[in-house]
Amino acid sequence: MTKNFSINETAKLFDITTNKLRFYEKKGLIKSLRDNKNNYRYYTKEHLVRIQTILMYRVLNFSIEDIKNIMDKNYKDNILDHFYKQWEILNDEMHRIRLLKDSIEEIMDKMYESKEETYLDEMIESVKKINEVKKIKNNWKDRWNFDNWAKTYDITVKKDIGSLKIFKNYNEILQTVYEKSVKNISKGHNIKILDIGVGTGNLSKKYLNNGYNIIGIDQSRQMMNVAKQKFPNLKVRLGEFLKIPFGNSEFDIIVSTYALHHLNDDEKELAVKEMIRVLKDNGKIVIGDLMFENNNEKRKLLNGFTNDQIEEIEDEYYSDIEKLVIEFNKYNKKLERCKIDELNFVISIE
Ligand SMILES: C[S@@+](CC[C@H](N)C(=O)[O-])C[C@H]1O[C@@H](n2cnc3c(N)ncnc32)[C@H](O)[C@@H]1O
Repeated sequence: MTKNFSINETAKLFDITTNKLRFYEKKGLIKSLRDNKNNYRYYTKEHLVRIQTILMYRVLNFSIEDIKNIMDKNYKDNILDHFYKQWEILNDEMHRIRLLKDSIEEIMDKMYESKEETYLDEMIESVKKINEVKKIKNNWKDRWNFDNWAKTYDITVKKDIGSLKIFKNYNEILQTVYEKSVKNISKGHNIKILDIGVGTGNLSKKYLNNGYNIIGIDQSRQMMNVAKQKFPNLKVRLGEFLKIPFGNSEFDIIVSTYALHHLNDDEKELAVKEMIRVLKDNGKIVIGDLMFENNNEKRKLLNGFTNDQIEEIEDEYYSDIEKLVIEFNKYNKKLERCKIDELNFVISIE
């Protein structure tokens, strides 16, 4: 028989008062069941999950009314959605607070370091800069609709559709990223690897098959669902390049394939900063993606392309490797490139 929980047991479990449970019931957020004999309230496991969700939304300062609306809409359909939503809100909040902390640190440093007559101006500059960063981080949108592509993605990479045939060397690119990233690194669970834009898990699979400890992040729930169906052992988290959902210096290796070109130059500058933040000091980044050596090379190549091909390129943001060199240099990291074909490179950063 499945265990039910009394109001006291439930309140104790969540460290709240029984009054709070009655209050949520009065507001229509939960509906407890009643014992046939004594009419006491009792709660099932489903109730507990629902209460956990309500409490998390309350921690995040959602009003009772808002919580009711969110939960009435689709709570029953997919409880996992609620955990994802909570995770996303928490991660956004952590990034907002991190940015605020950095900003305050910068302002305090300025107060010590600048001359009396200029520090107010410099403080205003810092505030403006932080607001700009906040805007860029919050404005990134998936305008390609990866959720829609998830179910057919693996077929696409095999068929190599599109006017540019960008997937023609897909396997070679993934294999090169894998080999370069683990070169001189012994297998084992103490090496932590992050795959950004994990998609359907094809790159991560190589690490899993070889006994490495890898975790994938992606901004698309549906892509991650496909990855989880294919590789139940693969850990995945909702997350973006601009808001990596992990703490500082956690990873030995960061890898990514076919994902960075969904960020423009300003976003890439912040993505580099984010990758460096979560990477250990002596860590390594290996990225396989669509890139040009530099602007001159891009112009030369585009001259030989059809209008359809140019349109396909301009719909995304193929990286300029020279600009990436500058960005990584800011953190004393050196970039090495390996050309796979006219548009695809694998870059290693150490
Ligand atoms: C073309 S797929 C590549 C998937 C996989 N890495 C591979 O090589 O097959 C691009 C993936 O990157 C993800 N992506 C795009 N922009 C992203 C961003 N800013 N942050 C995190 N993931 C992103 C997409 O959701 C999608 O799953």
